[in-house]
Amino acid sequence: MKGIVLAGGTGSRLYPATLSVSKQLIPVYDKPMIYYPIATLMEAGIRDILIITTEKDADAFKNLLGDGSLLGCEFSYAVQDQPKGIAEAFTIGASFIGSDRVCLILGDNIFYGKQFKELFKTQIELKKPSIFAIKVSNPSRYGVVSFDPEGNAESIEEKPLAPKSNYAIPGLYIYDSTVVEIAKNIQPSERGEKEITSIHQVYLESGNISVGILSDDVVWMDAGTPTSFTLAHDFVKEMEQSSGIKIACLEEIAYTKGYISKEVLQKSIDRMGSSDYGNYLKRLI
Ligand code: DAU
Repeated sequence: MKGIVLAGGTGSRLYPATLSVSKQLIPVYDKPMIYYPIATLMEAGIRDILIITTEKDADAFKNLLGDGSLLGCEFSYAVQDQPKGIAEAFTIGASFIGSDRVCLILGDNIFYGKQFKELFKTQIELKKPSIFAIKVSNPSRYGVVSFDPEGNAESIEEKPLAPKSNYAIPGLYIYDSTVVEIAKNIQPSERGEKEITSIHQVYLESGNISVGILSDDVVWMDAGTPTSFTLAHDFVKEMEQSSGIKIACLEEIAYTKGYISKEVLQKSIDRMGSSDYGNYLKRLI
């Protein structure tokens, strides 16, 4: 299974903060936002990851994350010229995907919770195209899935004004390699974007999509607006301060999962210096 982190876009809902810095590079509490989606993939065992950014931010991401070897991963990079839709990730990433299965995560999506981790692994093992659903109070802001009485997905709509359910579709998706062809063939929406929802509608029509329902105790945040960004920041701060355990510490995941040796971890420790993050890494050894 390959992974793609989509970290382009303009971040316009966070202007002026994101006028000169990519949204996915600004820190959510003690680490850059992109650490969270990468952690989600790494925890599920996905280590061959394509990171898609804007051209102007590409070097900053490469400086931050490198080739992935410090994390026991393989990172490659691609550029999206214009934010013409999430589904473009698959045409940009076509040669990276090849004939493999692929999991896409949006660079501003943060997931937390035991049931989430277990369900994500289960959905990967299903070997079927898969999306997730989670109950929210404001579904019109998201992709929305509704269900028939048997609990099968019935409709999938992007930001509907009159949502047919309260189930939002978070920015984490699992597909087979046919997603590349599907992405090539879908038409841009009225707002001029190749919508991820259009891809789901194709899978839905062919009866080939599974929906993993996230439980109420899963925390999912799309840190794309000032309010949701602040919520994410406060959540991570509180959780880390009360438990003493970091969320989305990539080096810790790599080390505890056996992706890297102590010697490789030491290189990150040296890189992080005397920061709180660096001291945390020191305590892992
Ligand atoms: O967060 C989940 C939601 O994400 C889903 O429920 C929706 O179905 C999906 O369309 C998307 O909605 P958003 O309005 O939140 O998408 P946004 O335009 O904010 O883009 C999400 C991330 O993807 C963001 O980090 C920027 C990146 N992106 C987006 C587009 C459109 C790109 O890198 N390139 C793009 O062309």
